[in-house]
Amino acid sequence: MFASVALLLVAVLLFLVLGRNRRPKGFPPGPEPIPIIGNLLELNLENPIADLNRLAKQYGNVYSLFIGPRPTVIINGMQAFKEALVNKAADFSGRPQNLMVNHLIQMKADAPGVVLADYNHLWREQRRFGLMTLRNFGLGKQLMERSILAEIQRVMKILEQSVGKAMNPKQLFHSAASNIICQVLFAKQFGYDDEFMKFFVNLFRETSKIINGRWGMIYDTIPIVRNLPLPFNKAFKMFRTSYEKRMEMLAVSKKTRVPGKPRHFIDCYLDEMDKRGDDASSFSEDQLCSFLLDLHFAGTDTTANTMLSAILYLSNNPQIQERCQQEIDQVLEGKDDVSFECRDQMPYVQAVIHEVQRTADTVPLSVFHCTTKDTELMGYSIPRGTVVIPNLSSVLNEEGQWKSPHKFNPENFLNEKGEFVKPEAFMPFSIGPRMCLGEGLARMELFLMIVSLLRRFTFIWPEDAGEPDYNPVFGATQTPKPYTMKVQLRKTIKGNN
Ligand code: HEM
Ligand SMILES: *[C@@H]1O[C@H](CO)[C@@H](O)[C@H](O)[C@H]1NC(C)=O
Repeated sequence: MFASVALLLVAVLLFLVLGRNRRPKGFPPGPEPIPIIGNLLELNLENPIADLNRLAKQYGNVYSLFIGPRPTVIINGMQAFKEALVNKAADFSGRPQNLMVNHLIQMKADAPGVVLADYNHLWREQRRFGLMTLRNFGLGKQLMERSILAEIQRVMKILEQSVGKAMNPKQLFHSAASNIICQVLFAKQFGYDDEFMKFFVNLFRETSKIINGRWGMIYDTIPIVRNLPLPFNKAFKMFRTSYEKRMEMLAVSKKTRVPGKPRHFIDCYLDEMDKRGDDASSFSEDQLCSFLLDLHFAGTDTTANTMLSAILYLSNNPQIQERCQQEIDQVLEGKDDVSFECRDQMPYVQAVIHEVQRTADTVPLSVFHCTTKDTELMGYSIPRGTVVIPNLSSVLNEEGQWKSPHKFNPENFLNEKGEFVKPEAFMPFSIGPRMCLGEGLARMELFLMIVSLLRRFTFIWPEDAGEPDYNPVFGATQTPKPYTMKVQLRKTIKGNN
């Protein structure tokens, strides 16, 4: 409340000084902005869904809003997505700079990490290295698979202890996802109540609230207040502590590493720096430090929330769950563990996992893009430096792209012969050059986790739990409303003890 009033006052003041927001010529349509704060008053920031729905209906697939003084274009639907993110990728693959998140993640000016790096040489080099390293983990796929399976064993132990009892699986899946990424980054597994682990889970939770809340808006909108002792300083303090913790990890790795024998992402990066010698280009220890945070941040909530959606849908669709289990039992008969390669023999399970990702809609507005030059989209002109929000939900639910766009239905990914097919509109990881860098890891995690769990357990929606609510809690990453589930041990398990 205080924040809103403060915002309004400052806005009025600045209006007198600076004049009004204006839509550039040929810009996509949208509501009239108020000076400085733009269209913020039209949005309920806690849950802008209904307001945005209304605007999208009113103004069409490409429309604009002023988020504070910043002109922003929202794009909806396959056609606009393809034009912007694929055909004109170079124009649309920048990232907004100089916002609170940028300042939080990068401790040094030349070390922006990857997620928020602008479309430039540094980003290209770091991304290429990241993809290579995650794809092969620098050590071969098997190590990644083994790390994931080891973590799954721990999840299964905990689930075994909860057989018959109602439990909320949120903490469990968040810890597991965080552990898997930590394993890749630092080769470290943490107890589920370890201090390091709790620090980062808390860091992400607390600071996202600040970044996405009113104080984040104020920081981004009114640069002159940035040095004042306001609540966003708490976020900066937490990120500074996290920087120190990552630097400690880095110091330990440097002491214990054997060059050429990487154990994890840090070692791979240090090897790459050795290889480059004096010609390090964009590689630096500070950049590594930001990169680590990026991967940890981007890889935790996303996968955990997708798992929570998976269990929500499976426990409420027992026939679908059972059909997965039959396929799993058949393919894995006599084997100890599942491997990622088994996925080609499991078209139904694949269809279910993809349908979970489609309906989970985990990152609904992707990560914001920014135009790198004056350009055009669907006949509108969009100047350089315009924030672009790709609305992934709009494609994942688009009529005409799916057999059953508005309902959970694995048939969306199956042809008449029961084979797995992936429609073009399946893009929970976005498309184009900025597409999720962790897709490979995420898909491996989801597959191994879901198959292993369904092989061993049946997930049940408790009788007294009421009707499931499939509407997610809105956020940069969406998550299902908190729920409880029960697990039952399956009887027929061969080669799996
Ligand atoms: C189900 C899980 C996941 C989903 C749905 C997801 C989704 C996304 C989306 C929508 C983007 C934005 C793409 C764009 O800007 O157009 C993104 C970017 C990114 N993701 Fe993921 N992600 C997932 C898991 C992961 C994991 C496990 C990692 C880390 C290993 C990761 C690392 C990244 C990075 C580094 C970027 C930035 C790429 C760039 O800017 O070039 N993600 N992800
Ligand atoms: C994104 O698309 C969905 C589905 O079409 C719609 O409900 C939502 O309002 C859109 N969001 C924005 C920001 O336009």
